[in-house]
Amino acid sequence: MAGILPKYALLFIIFFYFNGGAAGKSLGFSRVLNPATIGLKKEKLTHFRLFWHDIVIGRNQSAVKVAAGPATNASATMFGAVSIIDDALTEGPELSSKLLGRAQGLYSSASKSEVGLFMAMNFAFMVGKYNGSTITILGRNTVFSKVREMPVIGGSGLFRFARGYAQARTQKFDNKSGNAIVEYNIFILHY
Ligand SMILES: *[C@@H]1O[C@H](CO)[C@@H](O)[C@H](O)[C@H]1NC(C)=O
Ligand SMILES: *[C@@H]1O[C@H](CO)[C@@H](O)[C@H](O)[C@H]1NC(C)=O
Ligand SMILES: *[C@@H]1O[C@H](CO)[C@@H](O)[C@H](O)[C@H]1NC(C)=O
Ligand SMILES: *[C@@H]1O[C@H](CO)[C@@H](O)[C@H](O)[C@H]1NC(C)=O
Repeated sequence: MAGILPKYALLFIIFFYFNGGAAGKSLGFSRVLNPATIGLKKEKLTHFRLFWHDIVIGRNQSAVKVAAGPATNASATMFGAVSIIDDALTEGPELSSKLLGRAQGLYSSASKSEVGLFMAMNFAFMVGKYNGSTITILGRNTVFSKVREMPVIGGSGLFRFARGYAQARTQKFDNKSGNAIVEYNIFILHY
């Protein structure tokens, strides 16, 4: 008897595995999958350090203001302004250093009491095995704070199922032009 039970237990497990388990009833348009079937193995943590170049004026302009917000005192914080960006992401703080990818998306001024941006960007990587993969950053950026933390809410390619956070630190800010170089340290859990 004691020898038979494990055998039945094994059959039971096999039956439920191939049926997707009781909870995994097929509805036709959905089914429960083993993560291995789409190549998901072990989750890992990757750290990226790169530099984000926001050029709002000049020959290499990469940020375009598409809405200015109201011309009142609320605009001391540029509240309501929206810019679309295609900013270079480089290995070092110089624009001439190796290009790793581009930050494409937008930021808008979403605070009436300080310069607090709402950031929505895809970091599109363009080198090595990361070429073609993206991560998506969405968060709040109070640009005059020393460190600003923004969530990484997802990704594509090598960054499918990504989650994590980015920390932004301004390296250089030209208060005449508004051009900025910002260091991004990004920590991402992905497969
Ligand atoms: C514009 O970008 C290119 C390539 O990154 C660089 O070589 C050039 O010096 C930049 N020009 C200015 C005016 O910053
Ligand atoms: C903005 O604020 C300043 C000083 O607080 C005031 O003198 C000025 O009239 C205000 N301008 C507008 C457009 O509200
Ligand atoms: C990145 O991928 C694009 C599109 O497939 C390709 O044209 C480009 O040469 C690749 N760049 C590098 C550095 O591998
Ligand atoms: C720009 O920076 C300089 C030097 O740090 C400072 O004296 C000046 O007041 C700043 N200008 C503005 C508009 O913030």
